[in-house]
Formats: sequence, C-alpha cells, structure tokens
Amino acid sequence: MRKWVKYTIDNSREEGVVFKDKSRTAEEHAKDMDGYHSDVSYDNKESFFKKWYHHQDRSRIKTYSEFVQKYVDKKNKILSLASGRCAGELYLLDQGYNIVCSDLRELNIHRDAKQLFPEFRFLLLNTLNLELRQSYDVITAFSLIYLFDDDELKLFFKNVANSLNRGGALLIDPSGAADNESTLLLDEVFLKYQTCLKKMVLSLLGKPNSLVSKHHGFRRTDEEIIAKAKEAGFELEVVERNDFLMELRRIRILSMIFNRSGLARKIGGTLGRKMPYVRLFLFRLASH
Ligand SMILES: C[S@@+](CC[C@H](N)C(=O)[O-])C[C@H]1O[C@@H](n2cnc3c(N)ncnc32)[C@H](O)[C@@H]1O
Repeated sequence: MRKWVKYTIDNSREEGVVFKDKSRTAEEHAKDMDGYHSDVSYDNKESFFKKWYHHQDRSRIKTYSEFVQKYVDKKNKILSLASGRCAGELYLLDQGYNIVCSDLRELNIHRDAKQLFPEFRFLLLNTLNLELRQSYDVITAFSLIYLFDDDELKLFFKNVANSLNRGGALLIDPSGAADNESTLLLDEVFLKYQTCLKKMVLSLLGKPNSLVSKHHGFRRTDEEIIAKAKEAGFELEVVERNDFLMELRRIRILSMIFNRSGLARKIGGTLGRKMPYVRLFLFRLASH
C-alpha cells in the first residue's frame, strides 16, 4: 500500500505550498466530486442519462454498471455503498434491477433523482459503521476503498460480510491503478513535476499561486486487496481490468497527443497495461 498524493494549483492563494489531509466529511467528498450539483439534466431521464451515464467522460460509471449486468441477476437485492450521484445505479434501476443507493449525506441530486425515478431509494449509510435493518444478496462499492487505510479497509470488508446473505457477492473498484513502479513514477515524478512546472510558469507571469499537495487516498496492489477481503471470508471470483489510457492521460502532453492520434492511443494502451484505471473485483462470501 502506498499513500497517494495528488498535486494541484490553487490560483486564489498567495505564493506557497499547502498540504491538505484526506477528505473525511461528506462536504469534502462532494467537493472532490465537483460539488454533486443538480442542473437541467435532471429535467428528464433522457437528458440525465445523456449527461451522467452515456457521456464519454463517464465511461468509468458505464463500465461499473456493465459489470453488474454481466454478473448479477435482476432478482437479487442489491445495496450500492458510496453511490455518489447514483448515475450507474439509476441506469440499473431503469433496466429493472432491484437496487438501493446510499452515501454519507442525502443531497439535492438524490431528491431530484426521486422526482425522475419514483422507485429510487436512498439510505444514509456510513460504510465504516454499517447498521442495516436487512441483509442483501449483492453489495457494490465503486470508487470507495482508496479512501481507507488498512484498519478501515479491514472494517469495511467485515461490515460488508455481516450485511450480505449467505453466498452473497461484493463488487468493488478500488479507484485507480495499483501501487507499482509505473504509478509511483507517474504520481511522484511526472504529475508532481508537471504541477511544479505550471506553478513556476504562472509565477513568472506574475500570477501568485500555491502548490497544493493533497493526500488523496491509498494505492494498493490486487494482491493486497484480495488478502484483506479473504480475512473477512471473501473468495475472489472475477477480476476485470479496463481503461489503460486514463492514468497516462493525467500527463497533459500525453492527453493532447492521445486526442490527436489513433496510433498514439494504441501505443499508450500497451504502455498503460500495468495501469488499468478501472479494476473490477467480484468477491463471493464463502458459505461455511
Ligand atoms: C469518489 S466518490 C465515488 C462515488 C460513486 N460511487 C462514483 O463512482 O462516482 C466517493 C464517495 O464515497 C462516499 N464515502 C466516503 N466515505 C464513506 C463512508 N465511510 N461510507 C459511505 N460512503 C462514503 C463519499 O461521500 C463519496 O460520495
């Protein structure tokens, strides 16, 4: 496991360097996700799915719900943890899945979703303190566990195991590629110095700014995740890896090249094999 730091520029501050801790409150998480604002896309289902599900920028969300559709039966009772905007979950609901969403806080987007999808159900749940009235056949937690240190991850798997029916399944994506030499080089060399360079250029142009170094979460290898899940009684049944360009796209110049050249995307797709942005695991609760 490695502490995952992200570097950004804050133009509203004076010259300097700012160190920020991991997001913990619902408000901080919402801010990290661009605010979870509601807008005109909530006027009808078509515009909602166009913006939040089918749009190319949301391919991660689509990959998650395709994974659910591939491995989960519509008759199963599903609980989605840390659902955020619930876009993939609403798509599944619309397809006839029996799915309940949850997160740390109920927001306007959830009330607006209820207007669009009367069968939408939302629970206030903290995954690290799960007290459920009923158990589920399937639990999903997409883009959540990168936030947890080892003790919290242990608690997460234990709580989920206690909330599943016998033989139930847990589907997760830790968010982001594994901890390895490639992602270390990406995070601590390319992305760090890309941001330092931007800071220098802005300062030279007379625009004061701060370099923000934020503890984003943790990167873990597949093996580390599988071992932690095993401690809580889970067996790995499926693992799928997707999107080998996204991590490389964080390097601005590469992103620009990928946008212009199919050949570059092909080469990037090969170079990025060690850095799948989406890693989907299906764990089954061993029934003994
Ligand atoms: C990166 S977002 C992912 C949202 C959504 N699943 C997605 O893939 O877009 C992380 C979400 O986890 C939620 N979260 C963070 N800690 C949590 C916890 N202990 N229990 C439940 N949800 C939590 C945050 O409120 C936030 O909505």
